[in-house]
Amino acid sequence: MYDFKIAAADKATMYRDLLSALEGLTAGEPDPIANMANAAALIWETLPDLNWAGFYRNVEGELVLGPFQGRPACIRIPFGKGVCGAAAETLQVQRVEDVHAFPGHIACDAASASELVVPIARDGQLIAVLDLDSPTPGRFTEEDEAGCVALSELLARVL
Ligand code: SME
Repeated sequence: MYDFKIAAADKATMYRDLLSALEGLTAGEPDPIANMANAAALIWETLPDLNWAGFYRNVEGELVLGPFQGRPACIRIPFGKGVCGAAAETLQVQRVEDVHAFPGHIACDAASASELVVPIARDGQLIAVLDLDSPTPGRFTEEDEAGCVALSELLARVL
C-alpha cells in the first residue's frame, strides 16, 4: 500500500514533500501513463481547493487528454488554443487568476475560476502539460507556480 498523505504546515514544505513523494512513486517506473496517473492522484490528494488536476499529452502536435482527477474534460486541444494550448505553444507557464478574462479559455467545467498550466518539456520538446484548475479566483500563487515547475522538471525525466 502507498501511504503518501501529506499534511505540511506551509506551502514550501508541502511542495517539498509532494516532490519527494512523486520521486518515490515514479522511481524505476518507465511507463508514462502510470506515472501521470499517480502524479495526478497525488496532486489531487495533496493540494487544497482544486476542481481538476491532470495532464494533456503532446500527441503529434495536438494536446490529447491524459490521466486526471476531476470531472470529464475536453479531449483534444489545439496548440495555441485556451490556457493549455498557450502553454503548449509558448512552453511558458500560464498562471491565470481569472480564466473568464483569458482569451479563448476552454471551459471544461463551469466551476473553474483560476488555472495553472505548466509545460513539461525535454530538450526543448513538449511532452505534456500539467493542468490545475480551481473554483477560487487567484488560487495559484508564485509559490504554487514554483512548486509545480519543480514537479514538472521531475516529470520531464519520467514521462
Ligand atoms: N481550461 C483549459 C482546458 C482544459 S480543462 O481546464 C481541464 C484551457 O483553457 O486550456
